[in-house]
Amino acid sequence: MEDRTANIITIASIINLTVLIIVSRIIFHLTEPFFLILGASLAAILATIGFYIIRRNNHSRRQQLETIIASEGKELRIEYSFLRKVAGLPTKFKFQELEEATDNWKSLIGKGGSATVYKGCLKDGTAVAVKRIQHGEDRGEKEFRSEIAAIASVQHVNLVRLIGYCIHTNNLHFLVYDFIPNGSLSNWIYAPLGSAANSRGGGCLTWSQRLKVAVDVAKALAYLHHDCRSKVLHLDVKPENILLDGSYNAIVSDFGISKLMRRDDSRIVTGMRGTRGYIAPEWLLGVGISEKSDVFSYGIVLFELISGRRSIKAIDVDAHGNKIRRRFEYFPKIITEKLKAGHIMETVDTRLMDLSQVDENEVKKLVHVALWCIQDKPRRRPSMTEVVKWLEGRVAVEEPPETKMIVVDLLSIAKGENGEDVGWQNRNKKKKPGVIARVASQLNGCLAPNVYSDTPGSKSFTYSMTMISPR
Ligand SMILES: Nc1ncnc2c1ncn2[C@@H]1O[C@H](COP(=O)(O)OP(=O)(O)O)[C@@H](O)[C@H]1O
Ligand SMILES: [Mg+2]
Repeated sequence: MEDRTANIITIASIINLTVLIIVSRIIFHLTEPFFLILGASLAAILATIGFYIIRRNNHSRRQQLETIIASEGKELRIEYSFLRKVAGLPTKFKFQELEEATDNWKSLIGKGGSATVYKGCLKDGTAVAVKRIQHGEDRGEKEFRSEIAAIASVQHVNLVRLIGYCIHTNNLHFLVYDFIPNGSLSNWIYAPLGSAANSRGGGCLTWSQRLKVAVDVAKALAYLHHDCRSKVLHLDVKPENILLDGSYNAIVSDFGISKLMRRDDSRIVTGMRGTRGYIAPEWLLGVGISEKSDVFSYGIVLFELISGRRSIKAIDVDAHGNKIRRRFEYFPKIITEKLKAGHIMETVDTRLMDLSQVDENEVKKLVHVALWCIQDKPRRRPSMTEVVKWLEGRVAVEEPPETKMIVVDLLSIAKGENGEDVGWQNRNKKKKPGVIARVASQLNGCLAPNVYSDTPGSKSFTYSMTMISPR
């Protein structure tokens, strides 16, 4: 009951009862009925007043409690947001705030397989990169959750910092990151292909900057694999997902397909979406991935840092008359041959060689580390902690064992040649035997599909490959 209504009812009842007493006094004079009515009315008046007082006390007590709870809640909220800030936990943004920060999505700074990234500026002046997770597939939501879960729980100088997030509608999500001014490593190591490449900005990293990038990325991955409470597998390590800050320190980004694992998990099998050329063989073969799959991708990145070129290159060759066949050049294989022939410097980015800044021993060391990382058998590959020790010169790198090289990513061959992300889940799995056959013929018999099994229960595929030897 409202306070005002209660007051009115109380006063009205008292007035009515008083009027009743007066009227009965006039009608009945000082007779017995008058005294009966008087007694009953006085009792009713006392009861009304009593009820009113009790109600008022309860009401004020409740109000006091509500004030206490509200102020405690406010304190808790302040404390909570303070702790979130101190712990570096992400803030929830409103869509309008992001619209304002990006000046209505004016400045596009990057586009990947699953998202578009815009530059923005928050009210406090922080420069941010706002990543819009594209929707339309279930992948958007899934990637959004996995990216938040993975990155929100980790903090490292070589990992991109998640400032906040926004859920606008069911299928429109945003992640807000620190803006990393020099963009992705891919703009700084591959030779520009023409005006399109130049327009992205970037340039050519010096040899010492490349070495620093190698160490930074190794440290970030070692931290994710070994020093976090839950092990984090990145699963998409490639130059596009390594950013460079103002001082050319490497910052690992894009946790869209990363996995959080319990410390005691030794490996997991998962649906697949990696990038052609960077996916480890065990992942291709569907036999499970682990942190060693990131080590493989890291090895490929090392080769690309040295050479300034992609590890896989498609070449169209005129095989029979005018029949064009597509072949794939695998750079780790070429580099192994050059190493054996004593011509390792021929594999170094020619732009660096012109500046004669490169020490042959350092090149050899980096090649050795990379060859360890791309061993076919995951258990032969080093841990990222070992890689950091090797690169920092705390432990000498041994000669890597010879490894058969599974040449190219079957799935990516089936797709385009532009290095774009490859979607596995959405692919019609039944098409795979055809894909494998095509790959085998493209590789001129080097990669032959032998076994293909699709057990209805497991939906897993097995194919064996003829390995390409480094020689
Ligand atoms: N924090 C950032 N600062 C600067 N540029 C960024 C940042 N995050 C992403 N980019 C740019 O946007 C591109 C795509 O972002 P990414 O997170 O890799 O998206 P996707 O998941 O679609 O691959 C990157 O390759 C990079 O060039
Ligand atoms: Mg990316």
